[in-house]
Amino acid sequence: MRLDKYLCRCTELSRTEAKKLLKIGAVKVSDETIKDPGFQVYEESDVTLHGNKLSFATARYIMLHKPQDCICSNVDELYPSVLHLVEVDRAFDLHIAGRLDADTTGLVLITDDGQWSHKITSPKKECNKRYRVQLSKPIPDDAIERFEHGLQLQNEPKLTKPAKLEVLGEKEALLTISEGKYHQVKRMFAAIGNRVIGLHREQIGAIELDAELELGQWRYLSEAEITSVK
Ligand code: URA
Repeated sequence: MRLDKYLCRCTELSRTEAKKLLKIGAVKVSDETIKDPGFQVYEESDVTLHGNKLSFATARYIMLHKPQDCICSNVDELYPSVLHLVEVDRAFDLHIAGRLDADTTGLVLITDDGQWSHKITSPKKECNKRYRVQLSKPIPDDAIERFEHGLQLQNEPKLTKPAKLEVLGEKEALLTISEGKYHQVKRMFAAIGNRVIGLHREQIGAIELDAELELGQWRYLSEAEITSVK
């Protein structure tokens, strides 16, 4: 495979970042500095980045039904990392493609393929995420249009991108957004004077949370789910 692709598979680098590192001579193959991103390498090739040997393992793709009180980070902080729930070898070599708050439940995608996760998290890719939202107050009649038009969030230079709000009940809705700003859903409802009291992610792109997974359970993604991320 191409060397830039190999680097993305072994690290969390995007293709652009990998190419930059190649350009500055940070990558060696069998002790020779290689700058050509298209240079052919194999799984067993001896590749180093800044002198550290990279190990090529077949990429892993996982969905987790995240419970509350764990965090989407590779290090434990106030709450433990979600990676403790994924009982695989080298779980802490994996990373999370799109974080959820500690009090949010639902679909979390976990992988060691940096190029794949980049397609989910890059703002340029506008990957849709669908959330089920419980609110403290009734949803006003004009909320659908306001979410579609875009909302002004505090400390943000631009309006939010058009979002689809489907009202399910007086205080319950589905919200689909293509961005992933910090606390975005909570801030969007705050912008219309409401408060999120329950948040659950049901879908990322075409990948839906498997209804068979209980809170805290995980499974590997199917080939169709992996390749649905474009
Ligand atoms: N938006 C939020 O406010 N919180 C989440 O966890 C995800 C999206």
